[in-house]
Amino acid sequence: MYYFQKPLIGLIILILTYLIVFFESEEEKYLKLPIDTRLRKLNYPIQSYYVITDDNFNITIFRLGKKGSYQFNQGKPVVFVPQFLNCIDSYVLNEEHLSPAHVLANYGFDIWLMSTRGRDYSPNYDKGSDFSFHEYGYYDLSKTFEYVYLYNPQNISAIGHSQGGNTILVGLAEKRLKNTHKMIIYGGSIYGEHAQGLFPLLINSPLVEILSKFTDKIKIGPSRFLFYLTKHFHFLSRLFFHYVIDTLESDMNISHLYRFAKRSPQPSTIQNILHYKQMFVSGVFKRFDYGPHINLQKYGQLEAPLYNLNQIEESIHLIYGTHDVLARQPDTQKFYQELKKTQAKNVTISEYPSMGHINFILDKKAQFLSEIISLIEDD
Ligand SMILES: *[C@@H]1O[C@H](CO)[C@@H](O)[C@H](O)[C@H]1NC(C)=O
Ligand SMILES: *[C@@H]1O[C@H](CO)[C@@H](O)[C@H](O)[C@H]1NC(C)=O
Ligand SMILES: *[C@@H]1O[C@H](CO)[C@@H](O)[C@H](O)[C@H]1NC(C)=O
Ligand SMILES: *[C@@H]1O[C@H](CO)[C@@H](O)[C@H](O)[C@H]1NC(C)=O
Repeated sequence: MYYFQKPLIGLIILILTYLIVFFESEEEKYLKLPIDTRLRKLNYPIQSYYVITDDNFNITIFRLGKKGSYQFNQGKPVVFVPQFLNCIDSYVLNEEHLSPAHVLANYGFDIWLMSTRGRDYSPNYDKGSDFSFHEYGYYDLSKTFEYVYLYNPQNISAIGHSQGGNTILVGLAEKRLKNTHKMIIYGGSIYGEHAQGLFPLLINSPLVEILSKFTDKIKIGPSRFLFYLTKHFHFLSRLFFHYVIDTLESDMNISHLYRFAKRSPQPSTIQNILHYKQMFVSGVFKRFDYGPHINLQKYGQLEAPLYNLNQIEESIHLIYGTHDVLARQPDTQKFYQELKKTQAKNVTISEYPSMGHINFILDKKAQFLSEIISLIEDD
């Protein structure tokens, strides 16, 4: 008997290893497909466009129409802006009646999904890493607005979740966005004083500076490890999130989280993380601080220039969840008060008591979407 056991155990280990390392289910194969292939399979009209920015980056934007339709919507145009470490797939990850981009496309808005530089739909890997969310807003978003206007000449709304909000704010403060309508920011603020959990710990440590000595970008995924972890260990994933993004009370559907793992985390430049850090730590919204020597060359002054929020004339609508560990109530309220002092046409703020940060893309009810629809419908 003993002689049989050893090879048997060996065989079992071999099979398990094969399953974990090599076996790919149909669903995994499907999730790995690019966004346009997947949405076409779901019967949505989708078209990709390559846009060349003023500083010569080649980025991809996708236009998304109503399910089952043969043409794109002629309703009001809306641009979705991606978060830190995510790609625009995040806006179509939830069930179709809950995903922001699906819901707004099926409502009749003309939906555009922008992939900013340095992510897998807009790699530009040969162009270096001298960029952060500043360039996303200054170059990528402004050119996307111009492009969208060519196809649908109506004033354009933008929706940014988390760092997507900072991208929009750069575009507005630098007066780069033309033909604007409503600017909607979920879980985004320029203040991070009250942020909790692992992220502020990491950001306040010298870790990023140490990393910057070795590399100019980070790429930690997508990985099979994350896929298995999030697919099979829901409570563990939820607990991890509790210390990073959302408290356990937030009403997200954790059973969809694994869908992320096939496309995220996306690469980020170290400069993007450092720029975020500079904003979080100082509470000041300004251009990337290269240090006095390079600042002088790039900006003609020793200090990095401030973004002028007073330039903002558009309507800005802040939405956040009570259980968000990153964009917390006091910081979002403080930012709201700042925006009220600017020339912004109309500034509003809404708090959703069952939501956190990730809920924007994985909520169980997505009630905030009806507010977003009426904001965009309003003139
Ligand atoms: C932009 O990138 C796409 C996809 O890689 C490529 O097909 C296209 O030719 C590029 N456009 C320019 C002008 O380089
Ligand atoms: C677009 O916005 C501009 C500036 O706010 C406004 O004057 C114009 O009437 C708007 N156009 C439409 C079609 O609403
Ligand atoms: C969460 O997602 C799963 C998988 O699609 C679904 O079966 C379940 O009903 C969802 N839970 C809630 C509360 O919506
Ligand atoms: C500001 O926007 C909100 C939401 O669309 C609307 O209810 C309110 O009337 C607007 N206020 C002004 C002064 O335009």
